[in-house]
Amino acid sequence: MLKTSNLVFLYPRISLDYPRHKSWFADVKMAPPDAILGLTEAFLSDKNPKKVNLGVGAYRDDGNKPWVLPSVREAEKRIASKNMNHEYAPINGLAEFYNKSVELALGKDSEILKDKRNSTSQCLSGTGSLRIGAAFLGLFWKGERLVHLPNPTWPNHRPIFMHSGLKVATYNYYDPKTLGLNEQGLYESLCKSPEKSIVLLHACAHNPTGVDPKKEQWLEISRIMKSRNLYPFFDMAYLGFASGDIDKDAEAVRIFASEGHEFCLAQSFAKNMGLYGERVGTLTIVCSTKDEAERVTSNVKTIIRPMYSSPPVYGARIATEIFGDNELYCMWLEDLQTMANRTINMRNQLMEKLVALGSKRSWEHITNQIGMFCYTGLNPEQVERLTKEFSIYLTKDGRIAVVGLSTKNVTYVAESIHAVTKG
Ligand SMILES: Cc1ncc(COP(=O)(O)O)c(C=O)c1O
Repeated sequence: MLKTSNLVFLYPRISLDYPRHKSWFADVKMAPPDAILGLTEAFLSDKNPKKVNLGVGAYRDDGNKPWVLPSVREAEKRIASKNMNHEYAPINGLAEFYNKSVELALGKDSEILKDKRNSTSQCLSGTGSLRIGAAFLGLFWKGERLVHLPNPTWPNHRPIFMHSGLKVATYNYYDPKTLGLNEQGLYESLCKSPEKSIVLLHACAHNPTGVDPKKEQWLEISRIMKSRNLYPFFDMAYLGFASGDIDKDAEAVRIFASEGHEFCLAQSFAKNMGLYGERVGTLTIVCSTKDEAERVTSNVKTIIRPMYSSPPVYGARIATEIFGDNELYCMWLEDLQTMANRTINMRNQLMEKLVALGSKRSWEHITNQIGMFCYTGLNPEQVERLTKEFSIYLTKDGRIAVVGLSTKNVTYVAESIHAVTKG
């Protein structure tokens, strides 16, 4: 039996001189605010009735309101009438959903899908799909491989890959002089990348520039990557949203598939179904055989399980409902066109108004670029003036979310841009 006198030797004596316990996190420094969410906060506290938020990457209708797609509303009604339960999804999600998702990207006649050499899992929207894919590559390539990101790219790419234990580098992509693709620079970068590096490619509607390679350029990128033994990782956040046509937006990925590449593909249904907060997406890892794909899936599951166990079901049910019913699917295709057409129309109007105001600059890049964003070419001083003098909010790199424009504010935005760029 333990005697009280022995305790003296087992436990430190409590003394009044003992240093006072400091809070565990007293030394934690304040992390920088998220650049885009910070813009929204500043926008919300601005009292100017003419204020415009061109920062946030979420579709808005012409009244600047979030838009729930009619096809999604109808799918929700049908789901509600089914009185479904709330059981867990399997670790890698709902098979009916993820099989349709990858079919949408690769096409019904995909040889990869016929051979079942795809490892596909439902993950947490685009970000979660990228993160699980990056974790898988980081785990199996032990952090030795470099990931090359386009310069510039979506700011989240860098931490996603770094947190997965991979080293990050950049490749030439955008040419600020032409406000378009730095074609030669891009090819040169790829030719110089160490063999077996991972190359992150935006499948369509490059964020933030809105600049996409053309078909022949994709073919050349594919050829160089094959000859240099580089591994493609496609980020497909805007399928169907960019042009309104799924097959057109899937062209780059399908070129790589038909050229015999094996690749990773992260898909998101945030933008193209307006399911931002529902976190609907898939990760596909194309393998060389069905057996290899099965082994890869088993390992992907071991990454997901301790991270979040299994994905949420509601958004995936909505998508599955849409994919599984011809009438709903056609409605969704129309919704995609509505969003794409409004966005393209806003680009045209902004450019036409700048020209009509007598701007001496070329604004053709506004309509040459595609997708949710436009890289205006405005410099940081001009951006600052737009915000301070005109209450127009955009990121410092001059990127505007075209979807924040409407028939009511486009004239004001054009006049303001003209005011800060003339002279
Ligand atoms: C290029 C790109 N990739 C991925 C994403 C991920 O979006 P989410 O996680 O909302 O699907 C976004 C969202 O803005 C994006 O622009």
